[in-house]
Amino acid sequence: MVNEPELSEAAVRAELTTAWLGRPYRYVASIDSTNEQMKAWAADPAWPSGTVLLADFQSAGRGRLDRRWDAPPDTALLFSVLLRPGWPVNQGAWLTMLAGLAVVEAIEAITGLPAQLKWPNDVVLASGETGEWHKVCGLLLDATLAPAGDRLESAIVGIGLNVNIPATALPVAATPATSLLVAGGRPVSRRALLPALLERLERHYEAAVAGHSPVGAWAARLITLDRHVVVTSIGQSSSLTGVAEGVDEWGQLLVRDATGALHTVAAGDVTLRGR
Ligand code: BTN
Repeated sequence: MVNEPELSEAAVRAELTTAWLGRPYRYVASIDSTNEQMKAWAADPAWPSGTVLLADFQSAGRGRLDRRWDAPPDTALLFSVLLRPGWPVNQGAWLTMLAGLAVVEAIEAITGLPAQLKWPNDVVLASGETGEWHKVCGLLLDATLAPAGDRLESAIVGIGLNVNIPATALPVAATPATSLLVAGGRPVSRRALLPALLERLERHYEAAVAGHSPVGAWAARLITLDRHVVVTSIGQSSSLTGVAEGVDEWGQLLVRDATGALHTVAAGDVTLRGR
């Protein structure tokens, strides 16, 4: 007899506590990229806001800045959430904030591991002998604008969370990686973690729709703030060094350099350099 996948549609539906997020929920054993598939679905209005597609393996998983996102089969949560917010374009940054908060809270609820956020889109855990911050989850937003170009017609939030990846199979990445297994020392039930995460994402999204900004709660979790940082931005040959003083309403990082000038950074990679 073939074993039922841990995250099969029947198994996850039985655990889901959400009203609309993850309804429908679709599972595939293998795919190129859940975000790529969801882009095709997003163009079809028959797929409602809240649709979730999860794969146990991706052959061409995508990360930010055109990087790859890899995980061995059956060891991670690799999924995409379709939302149809209709918000002004720059409010799209809220979506990755909501997802980051949902991931952090679900990790803490299911594993007890204290999780934090690293600007712009990483979830991190203290891991290894030094207890340094390691990346456990990455978020990738793919958005489509309405024809007038001013509103978000659809938004796909891609979530890659390293759950039971052993230390020897962790990807080598710009930010050192970890998994819940490596950081916590024991395997974690993906079947418990996924519904916990979707429930929190639904709650945070509904609060945002009701007009509550997630920026305060998100910024409170950022390990990046009040630190000396080096920011490498897309398409820029030189990097920016300074102190990360805060974030604005749209999640952009405010960095003060040695001359006292304040820079607003929309996207990039950040290296932390102490306080
Ligand atoms: C990053 O930190 O660079 C973002 C990683 C996002 C990975 C997830 S896994 C599910 C979804 N499908 C993809 O191809 N990418 C996202």
